[in-house]
Amino acid sequence: MDGFECGGHPGEDDVPNFILLPRAAEELTIPFVASGGMADGRSLVAALALGAEGMNMGTRFIATQEAPVHENVKRAIVAASELDTRMVMRPLRNTERVLSNAAVERLLQKERELGAAITFEDILPEVAGVYPRIMQSGEMDAGAWSCGMVAGLIHDVPTVQQLIDRTMAEAHALIHERLAGLAR
Ligand SMILES: Cc1cc2nc3c(=O)[nH]c(=O)nc-3n(C[C@H](O)[C@H](O)[C@H](O)COP(=O)(O)O)c2cc1C
Repeated sequence: MDGFECGGHPGEDDVPNFILLPRAAEELTIPFVASGGMADGRSLVAALALGAEGMNMGTRFIATQEAPVHENVKRAIVAASELDTRMVMRPLRNTERVLSNAAVERLLQKERELGAAITFEDILPEVAGVYPRIMQSGEMDAGAWSCGMVAGLIHDVPTVQQLIDRTMAEAHALIHERLAGLAR
C-alpha cells in the first residue's frame, strides 16, 4: 500500500498512510506491506501498528552504498528536506512525486500556463528518457525523477547491512522500551 507520501506515482486520491494503512487493514483479507515515507525503525513499528505486515522503502534504499546510481543522486536525497518534492503531471492524471529541480519547475510552469490543454508532448523534454542521464550520469537537472518526502528523514548513505541492522535495533528499542510502558 503506497501512501500519498511516496516517491513516484501515488495515484490521484492523496490519502496519506495514517489513513490508508488502517483502511487497507479494514478492507483486505490478504497480508500487505506499508510503502511511502518509510525510513527507519519508527516507520517499521508504525507500519505494524497500522495493520501492515512489514514495510517497503524506495527512496531510502537509493541512498545506500550499494544502490547502482550516480553519487550525485545519493547526495541530492541526503541534501533534500521534506519540503523539496513536487507533484508533477497531475493535469494528465499521471501524478508523480519528484525532487524539485530546474526541469521540474519548468514543467510546473508549463502546467500552469497550458492548464487543461496540456499534453504529454508538451512535457517530453522534462520527462522522456531522462532517467539514464540522472541515475547513470548524475545530471541532476536533466528532468523529473521520483523521490519521496521521506528525503527529509534521510541524512546518510549507509550500507544496506547497516541500514537494516539500525532499523531493526531502533524497532526493537521502540517496542521494548517506549511502547512497553503502555502494557504496564
Ligand atoms: C527513483 C525511483 C524510481 C521509481 N520507479 C518506479 C517504477 O518504475 N515503478 C513503480 O511501480 N514504482 C517506482 N517507484 C516507486 C517505489 O516502488 C515505491 O513505491 C516508493 O518509492 C515508496 O515510497 P518512498 O520513496 O517514500 O519509500 C520509484 C521510486 C523512486 C524513488
